[in-house]
This record gives sequence, C-alpha cells and structure tokens, in this order.
Amino acid sequence: MKLNNKVAFITGGTSGIGLETAKLFQAEGAHVVLVGSNADRLAAAGKELNGKALLVRADIRKAADIERAVEQTRAKHGHIDVVFANAGGTTVAPLEAVTEEYVAENLAVNFTGTFFTIQKTAPLLAKGGSIIVTTSFLNTIGYPGLSILAATKAATRSLVRTLGAELAPRGIRVNAVSPGAISTPFYSKIGLSDAVLSEVASSITQKIGLKRFGEPLELAKSVLFLASDDSSYTTGAELVVDAGLTQF
Ligand SMILES: NC(=O)c1ccc[n+]([C@@H]2O[C@H](COP(=O)([O-])OP(=O)(O)OC[C@H]3O[C@@H](n4cnc5c(N)ncnc54)[C@H](OP(=O)(O)O)[C@@H]3O)[C@@H](O)[C@H]2O)c1
Repeated sequence: MKLNNKVAFITGGTSGIGLETAKLFQAEGAHVVLVGSNADRLAAAGKELNGKALLVRADIRKAADIERAVEQTRAKHGHIDVVFANAGGTTVAPLEAVTEEYVAENLAVNFTGTFFTIQKTAPLLAKGGSIIVTTSFLNTIGYPGLSILAATKAATRSLVRTLGAELAPRGIRVNAVSPGAISTPFYSKIGLSDAVLSEVASSITQKIGLKRFGEPLELAKSVLFLASDDSSYTTGAELVVDAGLTQF
C-alpha cells in the first residue's frame, strides 16, 4: 500500500476528482479527512468511504473554517502527511458579464481557499509531507467565458512554485495536478443549459488528443503518485493529465 497509515486532508472531497481520490487513498491505506461545505454531500461521501473518514464541514472561502478543519484533524490524528487542495468551481461569464462580486467569489473559492488550505495545514506536516493542488488546463489555454477561473488557476500554479520553494527546506513537496476535461459534476454547476453543455462537450472532445473526457479515477491515480514516495524527487511541478488537450 502506497499510503499506509498516512493522514490525508482533502478539500473538495465530496464529489468528482476529490471523492475518487479519497477512495483511492483509503484503498491505499490512508486515514482520510474529507472537507466539504455541504452537509448532505459530506454525509453521502462519508458513506462511500465506509464511514471511516473524518468528515469536516468547512467553507473554503473562509480561512477561519479551514483553521477549524485543521484543528479537528490535529485533535483526531495529531498530524497530516498529505494535503490535496482540490476544492473549486465557477460559473461561465463572458467579459461583459463579469462583476466585482463574481471576481471576488472566484478568487475566494479557487485561489484564496487554496492558499489558506496550504498555510493552515503546513504546520502539521513533517519532513516527507506532500501537498497537491488542483490547477486546470485553463491555466495554459484560453477558453471563452472562463477568464476569471483561468486566471485563478494560473495563480495557483504560481503558488505551487513559491510555496514549494518555501517548504522545501522542511522536506515538504508541493506539486500541482492539471486536469483536462474530466467527467464530474463540475460541468452541471457552471450555469449552461444541457443543450449548450452538450455542444461545449463535443467541441472540447475534438481538441483532446485521445478524443474523450477523462474519468475521475484517471486523475486520482496521478494524485496518488504525487502524494506517495513514488514522486519523492518531484516538487514545484505540474503534472498534466489531459490526454493531450494542452499539448497537441
Ligand atoms: N472536471 C474538470 O473537467 C476539471 C478540469 C480542470 C480543473 N478541474 C478542477 O478540479 C477540481 C475538482 O473539480 P471536480 O471536477 O471534481 O468538480 P466537482 O465534482 O464539482 O467538485 C468540486 C468540489 O469542490 C467543493 N467546493 C466547492 N466550493 C466549495 C467551498 N466554498 N467550500 C468547500 N468546498 C467547496 C465541492 O464541495 P461541496 O460539496 O462543498 O460543494 C466539491 O467537493 C476543481 O478545483 C476544478 O476547478 C476540474
């Protein structure tokens, strides 16, 4: 087992990539701490983890919530080995529709939440610890209607370098995983009708080298690589898992 008895703190663990990663981590021997903002989704995810995960309700937009989640983790486990800062989301907004509130909300969920997840968990990590941040294919290619999400994801890519450099002296690695188009509930939340969504999906599929969306498990396996000692000489990097979407 690659994560035997390791404590893994996962945000955005109630759905999609985060939930699939939590299941894989558990199968690899980890004690999972699952963070989510919605009580019902948190409880449902807890059942999928056989009632063995520590479930913590926290809104990633609030640093105080993250601090409380970390304190509950410290109380139960004493330390953290792996952090998967993965929570995120958005709605589509073309240039003319973007408001100050929209920018603030996107920053809070996708950037500030990621930053404070790392800041608050870092004191509980020891030498050999691993932090993984979920970025996006949008941090390298332009896609209409997602300017602010793309910018927040580029900012988190930058964080991985700077915080990787800050934490390297303590033997803690910081890396990013960059998903391409993955089949998760993400797309049902972005505010597009089913008809438009289906057009968008086929247009993206045409641009993907392997001509299909990825499955959450295909992402989870890459996160496991970055979480485990298999990637012991990798830090500050971004592992692109997008079937060629940003490469061809
Ligand atoms: N799917 C893709 O194609 C794709 C592509 C590139 C990047 N990504 C990135 O991958 C990550 C995971 O997305 P996904 O595709 O797995 O989507 P998802 O199924 O919608 O999962 C998003 C997760 O983020 C959590 N979250 C959202 N707002 C939160 C908040 N304020 N506080 C705490 N948790 C919050 C959600 O939990 P709640 O239950 O609390 O809402 C949920 O667990 C995101 O960062 C996303 O940007 C996805």
